[in-house]
Amino acid sequence: MSGALKLGFGPLSAPSRGVLVVFCDDALRFGSATSRALGSASDLFARAARAEHFSGKVGSNLELVVPEGLKVVRLVVVGVGKPADLKVNDFVRLGGAAADKVPGNATEATIFADLPGGAMRPDRAADLALGVKLRVYAFDRYKTKRKDDDKPAANRKITIAVADAGAARSAFARREAVADGVVMARDLVNEPANVLYPEEFARRATVLRKVGCQIEILDVPKMRKLGMNALLGVGQGSVRDSRVVVMRWNGGRKGDTPVCFIGKGVCFDTGGISIKPAGGMEDMKGDMAGAACVTGLMHALAARKARVNAVGLIGLVENMPDGKAQRPGDIVKSMSGQTIEIINTDAEGRLVLGDVIWYAAQRFKPKFMIDLATLTGAIIVALGHEYAGMFVNNDQLAERLTKAGEETGELVWRMPLSKEYDKLIDSKFADMKNTGGRMGGAITAAQFIKRFVDDKTPWAHLDIAGTGFDSRQNEINKSWGSGWGVRLLDQLVADHFEGKGR
Ligand code: BES
Ligand code: MN
Ligand code: ZN
Repeated sequence: MSGALKLGFGPLSAPSRGVLVVFCDDALRFGSATSRALGSASDLFARAARAEHFSGKVGSNLELVVPEGLKVVRLVVVGVGKPADLKVNDFVRLGGAAADKVPGNATEATIFADLPGGAMRPDRAADLALGVKLRVYAFDRYKTKRKDDDKPAANRKITIAVADAGAARSAFARREAVADGVVMARDLVNEPANVLYPEEFARRATVLRKVGCQIEILDVPKMRKLGMNALLGVGQGSVRDSRVVVMRWNGGRKGDTPVCFIGKGVCFDTGGISIKPAGGMEDMKGDMAGAACVTGLMHALAARKARVNAVGLIGLVENMPDGKAQRPGDIVKSMSGQTIEIINTDAEGRLVLGDVIWYAAQRFKPKFMIDLATLTGAIIVALGHEYAGMFVNNDQLAERLTKAGEETGELVWRMPLSKEYDKLIDSKFADMKNTGGRMGGAITAAQFIKRFVDDKTPWAHLDIAGTGFDSRQNEINKSWGSGWGVRLLDQLVADHFEGKGR
């Protein structure tokens, strides 16, 4: 269902064609506008609900084809459970669930933004639209053949019927900017590594100039001059050159210290000389999900003209085994001057982040720094795919991230940092080694990164190995790359700098 989608807002009146999606609560009640639009079809619905044991609980739905009394070809009733319990993000999910019920070949659909308690506020109707936009995203650019019933309608139109269409439309504008950022991040994650290598990723980031970002690209000679040998060591076994991209959005007051977002961009992670097993290795094209999130976030902030000075920095490399590749036992000197003994070339993300975080801190002296990285399998063992691991040196930043997570449904769970774990990465030959053994693998990885952060700068590390991509579908994503973190960090910026939730 990818074709061109026209997503708009219109009045709460019964549509004369296409698909109609409405909401009911767990007592099978409708809002008054919905009842009016359904007319006699509500009796038909009541009978069908009894026959199907449809209870209206959140996420459930009932479909009626060519319903008597209505002109539409299909009526879908989506349950919301108890409307009073719905939080902001539940509206986004409901929008996604509604979109999911619109068959791919339907050209027109209307979603009624109306609940038993009354018509939805413009903000909540806009949240529905956000959910629709996220759910209809598909990454199908490499499919050249399609089964007939799979054929998406060429010009799809989905209208959110709402009490005040104008207000909903303007509430949607900023959400659309964020959704575009999520889509950009998903595209980057889904793209295969033969197409998206560091130089190509950097080129795609330059597109952000169109929305007003300043983009700078550091090439290999420049990085060598800066002393980014930890990052360069990871990339040296690849025929593809490494890159660092710096993206700046200055929407705040002139001269205000910026915030920095830093992303791990390993375009493909074979493990290097410490090579990974073959099974599932294809997933490692997504090992740049942190960098994708940072790029999508910078798009979102710029496109919605966020009142913040933000810098996104991404370290782009490919981790390959080769005659020139880095070996276990090698010792590299990072930009910070600290030396690192490479124990396992598959623990490469921290090497990339160490240099980029150091560079970000030196150059921008940010108010706070947040890095995102598909860093460890260990975080997936600990938290599965529901929460990202959050390691943070500042309680207030931890609280803010937790709150933004609850608001957006992009959840973070705080994990520990302490001296005891830090000892595990002391090295016999250098200042530190790049692995700390099997136990607490996500924590020792975070401790490693912490050695490149000064204690005075609030810093959070988000290990998104479990959330950056996921083969299971959910209400707001049916593709693999999730774009996880764009909405979370956009919300953090909104709460922190613009003094508003949504
Ligand atoms: N990119 C991987 C982590 C990963 C695994 C992300 C699965 C997403 C899904 C990372 O570079 C890695 O290989 N980590 C190793 C570290 C180990 C060698 C200390 C790991 O987790 O096994
Ligand atoms: Mn690795
Ligand atoms: Zn990796």
